[in-house]
Amino acid sequence: MSDMNQKVALITGASTGIGRATAEAFAARGAAVVIAARRKEELERLAGEIKSRGGKASVVVTDVAVGKDVERTVAHAIETFGRLDYAVNNAAIEGKLAAITDLPEEEWDRVMDTNLKSVFLCLQQEARAMLAGSRHGAIVNIGSVNSFLGFPTGSAYVTSKHGLIGLTTCASAELAPRGIRVNLLCPGFVDTPMHHRGRALIGDALYDKLLSERVHLRRAGRPEEIAQTIVFLCSDAASYITGATLTPDGGFTLTV
Ligand SMILES: NC(=O)c1ccc[n+]([C@@H]2O[C@H](COP(=O)([O-])OP(=O)(O)OC[C@H]3O[C@@H](n4cnc5c(N)ncnc54)[C@H](O)[C@@H]3O)[C@@H](O)[C@H]2O)c1
Repeated sequence: MSDMNQKVALITGASTGIGRATAEAFAARGAAVVIAARRKEELERLAGEIKSRGGKASVVVTDVAVGKDVERTVAHAIETFGRLDYAVNNAAIEGKLAAITDLPEEEWDRVMDTNLKSVFLCLQQEARAMLAGSRHGAIVNIGSVNSFLGFPTGSAYVTSKHGLIGLTTCASAELAPRGIRVNLLCPGFVDTPMHHRGRALIGDALYDKLLSERVHLRRAGRPEEIAQTIVFLCSDAASYITGATLTPDGGFTLTV
């Protein structure tokens, strides 16, 4: 399908996992993709793969927690491809897990800057670019089931992901009347490098128990499955969806 032929999509955190799969999914629909993250080598490898399949891709090395970097990233999209139609604010870190009594202030700040402030910075630049251009667009912020659920030692990550509900709601209210839809996607277990780090942290026994007892589909999601949902939210098929929270979690949050 090449229905996104004339469109341009920016994906942050595109070097691995969900971001990488999302870039590939947009490219498969014909969109030019601007892939942003911190690791140049991984991004260039992905851009090469997309181009070898006839797609259009451009790389930006960026730290989404830094305002000037985000400004440069969105400017790069406009300079390279002339417009911005879709943006996926996906980059995040899980941070160090620690009890509130032990969590260093710098670690709280690092997680909040990377996961929450970054999305504000991205939304601001992306919306400005969309409003200055076609006056249409769709933005997907990536939350988590931890946008609703907490767990001991997860205060920084969980709070940053909860914050995205408020940020997405306000952005949708402000931008929908101006032609830009903003939604929040909250995945459950997805088979990515972050997920494997999480598994190592909580231990195989608890991980397998959660998967076999709580996830109705009894398996982790694949990055490609999440990517398809993100592309759907950006597409015209989702033209009446804004300010929504979609939870591709295999049923994880539905039952105790
Ligand atoms: N994998 C899961 O099970 C899961 C579950 C719920 C939510 N999520 C969310 O999905 C999104 C993608 O996660 P993933 O599992 O693909 O993780 P991942 O660790 O595989 O990928 C995260 C990406 O973000 C990039 N990144 C991190 N900090 C950055 C920064 N400061 N500037 C630029 N890029 C930065 C990393 O380099 C990487 O490319 C995240 O928002 C995560 O919180 C993942």
